[in-house]
Amino acid sequence: MSGPNTNYDPVQVSPLDDDHVQAMVDEALAAIAAARTTAELKAVRIAHSGDRSPLALANREIGALPPQARKDAGQRVGRARGLLGGAIAERQEALAAAELDAALIAETVDVTLPVALAPQGAVHPITAMMDMMCDVFLDLGWEIAEGPELEAEWLNFDALNFTPDHPARWLSDTLFVEPTQNHTLMRTHTSPVQARALLARDLPVYVVCPGKVYRADEYDATHLPVFHQLEGLVVDKGISMAHLKGSLDHLARSLFGDGVETRLRPHFFPFTEPSAEIDLKCFVCHGASVGDPDNPCRTCRSEGWIEWGGCGVVNPRVLASAGIDTEIYSGFAFGMGIDRTVMFRNSATDLRDFVEGDVRFSRSLMGDAR
Ligand code: PHE
Repeated sequence: MSGPNTNYDPVQVSPLDDDHVQAMVDEALAAIAAARTTAELKAVRIAHSGDRSPLALANREIGALPPQARKDAGQRVGRARGLLGGAIAERQEALAAAELDAALIAETVDVTLPVALAPQGAVHPITAMMDMMCDVFLDLGWEIAEGPELEAEWLNFDALNFTPDHPARWLSDTLFVEPTQNHTLMRTHTSPVQARALLARDLPVYVVCPGKVYRADEYDATHLPVFHQLEGLVVDKGISMAHLKGSLDHLARSLFGDGVETRLRPHFFPFTEPSAEIDLKCFVCHGASVGDPDNPCRTCRSEGWIEWGGCGVVNPRVLASAGIDTEIYSGFAFGMGIDRTVMFRNSATDLRDFVEGDVRFSRSLMGDAR
C-alpha cells in the first residue's frame, strides 16, 4: 500500500506496474477461459472486473501517483479493463449460444413417440341401456318426456288414482321430504310424468320417460334405494291393449333379438285398468328349459319367462283428471326397471356394482352394446 505522498517523491505503486497488471489480466483471462457456464462466467466477471476486483482496487491507487506515472498507469489499467470486458463479452456470447443449443436438444419433443393415453371413462351401463330403450321409441316417432325427481305427492299418487290410504304411500316405501306438510317426495316411480305429459302436451301423446326413482329400500345385491325406470305413455283415438302388446313386443325384440316376446299377467295398478305385469320370454332358452331338468336355464331359472314391469290401459279417471274426453281418447302405459333390464340382459348379478363406480365394470358389461 502507498502512504501519503508527503515529499512528492515519485513513487511507483507496485500493484500498478506493468508486471502486476499483466499478471492480473492473465489470471482473469485464464478464469474467463475456464468458465464453463454463463453462471460461472458471471462469478468470474465479479471477481476479476467487478468493483472489488484486484484491478479495481489497484486502480484506486492511481490518484496517489505523480502526473506522468498517473497517466501511464491509467492507460495501462484502462487497456487491461477494456481487454477483460471484451474477453468476457465474447465468452458470454459463446457460452450462451452453447447453453441455448443444449437446451434445445434436451427439450426436443419427438412427436412420433407413442404416448401413454390417459385412462378413459366408459358409458355407464344404465345410461347405455336407457339410450337403447329410448332409441327404440324415438325411431317410432315417440318423444322423450321428463319430470322432476323431487315430486308433488299429488302427481306421484293422487293424479294416478291412488286412494289416500293406499299402502304405497306409507312412509316405509316412500321417501317424503321435510317439511312433510308441503307434500313433496322423491318420486317412487316415473308414472307422475304421465300426469305431467297429459297436462302439458297436446293430444295425441306418444312419450317415453326414462329417469331415477326412489324407494325406502335396503341397499343389497337386488335392491337399490335409487334405481331407474322407463315409462311409456300413449293417448290417442282408438288405442287398445293390442297396441300396448305390440309396442312391448317390439321393445323386447329390439333389445333381446327376434323371437323374444312378452306375456301379460293380470295385475292391479290404480292408474291402469285393466292392468298387467309384463313378463319377457327368456331370451336365452326361449322357454326350452321349462320342464327339462337336464337343461336348466340360469337366466330365467327354468321358468321360461322373466318379470319385467307393469302396464295397462290408462284408467279413464287419470285421463279425466287431465281434462281429456274419455269418450274419444284412450291410452296405454307401461313401466319397467332399467337396472333390472341391464342385469338380466348382461348377466350382472349384484346391483351394487352399478353404483360403486368401477370403470372396469362398465367396460366389461357394455362391451357388446357400444
Ligand atoms: N309405475 C309402476 C311401477 O312402478 C309401473 C307401471 C307403469 C304400471 C305404467 C302400469 C303402467 O311399478
